[in-house]
Amino acid sequence: MSILIKNGRIVTGASDFIADLYIEGSKIHAIGSGLPFQADQEIDASGKLVIPGGIDPHVHLEMPFMGTYSSDTYSSGTLAALHGGTTTVIDFVLQTQGSSLYQALDLWRGRSSGKTYSDYSFHMAVTDFNRETRQEIVAMIEKEGITSFKTFMAYKGALMIDDGQMLALMQEVKTHGGMVTVHATNGDMIDMLIDKHRREGHFSPLYHYLSQPEITEEEASGRFIDLAYYTGVPAYIVHLTCEGAINKVREATIRNQKVFVETCIQYLLLDAALYDQGFEGAKWVMSPPLRTRKDREALWAGIDQGLIQVVATDHCPFRWEQKRLGKDDFSKIPNGHPAIEHRMELLFSEGVNKGRISLNKYVELTAINPAKIFGLYPKKGCIAVGSDADIVIMDPDREHEISVNNHHMNVDYSGYEGWKLKGKCEKIILRGKLAIDHGQVNIDKGFGDFVKRNPISSVI
Ligand code: URP
Ligand code: ZN
Ligand code: ZN
Repeated sequence: MSILIKNGRIVTGASDFIADLYIEGSKIHAIGSGLPFQADQEIDASGKLVIPGGIDPHVHLEMPFMGTYSSDTYSSGTLAALHGGTTTVIDFVLQTQGSSLYQALDLWRGRSSGKTYSDYSFHMAVTDFNRETRQEIVAMIEKEGITSFKTFMAYKGALMIDDGQMLALMQEVKTHGGMVTVHATNGDMIDMLIDKHRREGHFSPLYHYLSQPEITEEEASGRFIDLAYYTGVPAYIVHLTCEGAINKVREATIRNQKVFVETCIQYLLLDAALYDQGFEGAKWVMSPPLRTRKDREALWAGIDQGLIQVVATDHCPFRWEQKRLGKDDFSKIPNGHPAIEHRMELLFSEGVNKGRISLNKYVELTAINPAKIFGLYPKKGCIAVGSDADIVIMDPDREHEISVNNHHMNVDYSGYEGWKLKGKCEKIILRGKLAIDHGQVNIDKGFGDFVKRNPISSVI
């Protein structure tokens, strides 16, 4: 099978130019003007952008959490991702405290293998670091291609590890060429504030927000950065939301420490005022919570300054009946928000079209940097000869509206209902196959491959 994409505006991290792109089998075979190839399929991309397929390195599919499961399965979630131009996702395996990493990996493989539409990989969340877990780290990296280890500084009793475990894990991961990533909020402080608010009779979603003030994230981010500095492990902060935390990252640069940082599309675009509307606010109950205008400004500036390298989603959807588990108590509302389908188009419309980021920065944030940071580059996240032909053809001028009535995620509301966007992902090519064409799906469940990742390079 071969595809010739003609006259598209090809965007890379460093340049953009009008050219043809020829795909043979699953790989990019040639890029240039007036390419002489006869292909099985020819696509006229005049006036369109040709960009690397998106990589979302932070999603939770079918994840057991807070007494329920996130509502997108590996099938529905990866299909929604593809519709929105994301061709690879990195999901999280969660170790159960008291069990091994391999027990968790087996469970996650059972749920996911043969079921995805997009390509996918796993981070391993270490929730119980002990003598046995230590021995599994090297096999995860070298045998399974799982090279990043997620830690939680919150969710005590289920996922949180203490600083001693964190340090020991960092030392082990560093020895074998991996990366430690973190949900950086101070779990003890948050639990204390939750208790206080409940004792005072406050149970609405607004108190979820008030239980996680900026300082809880600023403090934990700083602590994590210091531990990473001491051990020298490559370090990555997931879903960073606020000015205080980004300033901790900025401070680290003074001692020449590099910390990779991800924010998520919702933290760039949505405001904590959404919590101030009774139980409706449960749609945006996520951790950390949405913040304020000064934080959004700090995040956009952090992108501009190179302190933030990745925009992900932390896609963790729950249907309304699941959110209602917390109708009488905010602390029981499953934490998470649906976004896997709209990250690429939201960031294009609100970021590129509104002049906040360049096209080159856009492809860096959505594809190139996550591929480089997580050991997928140049197989993924790269428009170059020899790379996987994971490509999005986007109409930069096409207008459309986000709605629960047209999205593909398994969730019965949208966090962005009625948002009008400019820029639509029209054709999505995954490993040389035109997987989605104007909303029509041309691949079957199971087309998505598990991708083993390389040890982490500290250079991006
Ligand atoms: O609210 C969130 N973020 N839910 C998913 C779990 C996590 O903390 O990333
Ligand atoms: Zn988290
Ligand atoms: Zn998450």
